[in-house]
Amino acid sequence: MISKTILVTGGAGYIGSHACKALKNAGFTPVTYDNCSTGWEQAVKFGPFARGDLLDRSRLDAVFTQYKPAAVMHFAALSQVGESMQDPGRYWRENVTGALNLVEAAVAANCLDVVFSSTCATYGDQDNVVLDENSPQRPINAYGASKRAIEDILHDFTAAHGLRHVIFRYFNVAGADPEAEIGEFHQPETHLIPLMLDAIAGKRDGLTIFGTDYPTPDGTCVRDYVHVSDLVDAHVLGLKWLQDGKPNRVFNLGTGDGFSVRQVIEHSHAVTNRAVPHVTGPRRPGDCAKLVSGSNRAITELGWAPQRSTLESMIRDAWRWHQNTPNHYEK
Ligand code: UFG
Repeated sequence: MISKTILVTGGAGYIGSHACKALKNAGFTPVTYDNCSTGWEQAVKFGPFARGDLLDRSRLDAVFTQYKPAAVMHFAALSQVGESMQDPGRYWRENVTGALNLVEAAVAANCLDVVFSSTCATYGDQDNVVLDENSPQRPINAYGASKRAIEDILHDFTAAHGLRHVIFRYFNVAGADPEAEIGEFHQPETHLIPLMLDAIAGKRDGLTIFGTDYPTPDGTCVRDYVHVSDLVDAHVLGLKWLQDGKPNRVFNLGTGDGFSVRQVIEHSHAVTNRAVPHVTGPRRPGDCAKLVSGSNRAITELGWAPQRSTLESMIRDAWRWHQNTPNHYEK
């Protein structure tokens, strides 16, 4: 019988912790592997916690030996576009070398199924192009470049060592657990929706809109927002896809609907009934004008059925968690 244990790197982080909950609800045992550099031990609620760093190969080997996972879900990564432009070396070292250590340890432990968290940032800025899984990957920031490199590693390890993989390229993940057990909290926070909710709650002065001169209808960046609960449901389907012996596959995870920064601000006002204090500022280096998925492969092939990915639901769920857990997580 296949083990029900799944190694979840980054299980203490925003998306990883939601994946652990979804895995537990689907009958798996998620083992979180996380160094808590950006994640939170308090978010590890749904299975064992193995503290460790991806750059520590001997710790990785020990955890594979102890838990004998059937598969790996790999979320652990640095994920801030702006930071990646200022300190690309850290992104290459921690994301790419970390992933290389992980897959080498997985192959050594004969744990060959990998579900990988990639990003639409691997596509780069391609105005007026529908971004589907066959679109060229031309990242414009070091974060996207590091994730593309990890995709290449997976392909090479598949050819050489029989690794099997599902790669998910996320668009903008938002929202929180509908039961408000876990949510999104980064320190420092850089993401639009949590920053907006902090501004509404008076925890920061206000939001700065980064750029109003993009070639978009209202001049602000357009993004495709997907609910974290829907996103992690796709990961459980991806795991089952591999366990059913289906082929290595790449799936975009987005809704196909784009919203500008100004539209997100308007929706937040409507959902919370509070105005979002904001000012306008210059563009943030590394930002693409528009990133919207043009694929429904996840729906047609994987059977993904997003339930909560309207902007209203995402903001409502994020706001509920924000209010229920006003201090969020603490180290
Ligand atoms: N934005 C602002 N002001 C802020 C923060 C964000 O105007 O204070 C804008 C950004 O310029 C961008 C949009 O809001 O246009 C969304 O920004 P986020 O930082 O929330 O998200 P990103 O689009 O930069 O990044 C996200 C994920 C990455 C992923 C990327 C793909 O965090 O992991 O989407 O673009 F790679």
